[in-house]
Amino acid sequence: MKAKITVLPGDGIGVEVTSAAVAVLNKVASRFGHEFSYEEALIGGIAIDKTGTALPEETLRTGEQSDAILLGAVGGPKWDNPTAAVRPEQGLLKIRKHFGLFANLRPVKTYPALAQYSPLRIELLNGVDMLIVRELTGGIYFGPRQEQGDGDSAYDTELYTVPEVERIAHIAFRAAQGRRKKLTSVDKANVMASMRLWRRTVVKVAEDYADVALDHALVDSCAMHLITRPASFDVMVASNIFGDILSDEASVLAGSLGMLPSASLGADGLGLYEPVHGSAPDIAGQGKANPTGAILSAAMLLRYSLNLEAEAKAVEAAVESVLDQGARTADIAPRGGSFVSTTEFTQAVAEKI
Ligand code: IPM
Ligand code: MN
Repeated sequence: MKAKITVLPGDGIGVEVTSAAVAVLNKVASRFGHEFSYEEALIGGIAIDKTGTALPEETLRTGEQSDAILLGAVGGPKWDNPTAAVRPEQGLLKIRKHFGLFANLRPVKTYPALAQYSPLRIELLNGVDMLIVRELTGGIYFGPRQEQGDGDSAYDTELYTVPEVERIAHIAFRAAQGRRKKLTSVDKANVMASMRLWRRTVVKVAEDYADVALDHALVDSCAMHLITRPASFDVMVASNIFGDILSDEASVLAGSLGMLPSASLGADGLGLYEPVHGSAPDIAGQGKANPTGAILSAAMLLRYSLNLEAEAKAVEAAVESVLDQGARTADIAPRGGSFVSTTEFTQAVAEKI
């Protein structure tokens, strides 16, 4: 098949990891007889430097004309001025909103080859395989806010509507039906009105999914259980901010934040794929970045945007086998142990495909 992919490297290690993901996609194309073409566009700090805005119109136009978007990461100390009117992160929030990407899928699993390096006891990690479904275009990220420069108050508002909760709940229930049929809905219904609306809406949507076992977890105790009994979770659905926080926490289960991929999907068509990690300015440009999150995001792109399940599985199997054979980037190498560069790791994955 032919597909057009917009590539948004962004800042820091975003550049290295998207080029790794593209190398893997090219290997998939030649191995399976597809034709992928790529168009690069600007987002984040580099977009601010070149155009004055974190998400130029041209990037949106390029994205609109493509089948999927692959994104690296945005941000860095250069643009970290808290009083600046334009910030790299605005690019990310705007592109999610523009394309209506309300459903963010963040799968988390433990790789047996990495379990021994986890800060958690190895027996806790047995069988960890979960999917965090994060609401991505609502909640406190987009609610009414007031920022008064250096004034003495500021606020952000957690705001959800029933239709917003319904649509993310449907995504989560359907995902659970395709997995172990367990859904944990995360909220803070004991304190927040918006989270009581969240809970009662999820309960209502559950009526359509009698085959899925639903439970509700308060976010604080959920954060604890994610560490004390991670293997008990199957699908988790959470608001924008709770999903953001819990997915970083869950990354410890996978060995490193560098391992996690994500897919951001809307009601129709276009999806955006990006590693969960940030731009890691401290290691940018040194060939130290772990490209796994980006490579596995490319696998999700193959699966969800191009409907190429066998190809997606081939990429995932290649990553796993390279890890089994002992290839380690710096973030997942044992202390003092040797590690390979971003491109060496990527090359090994491509060869497996
Ligand atoms: C993420 C990031 C972003 C978020 C930031 C960079 C705006 O942390 O994708 O998880 O908070 O959504
Ligand atoms: Mn985050």
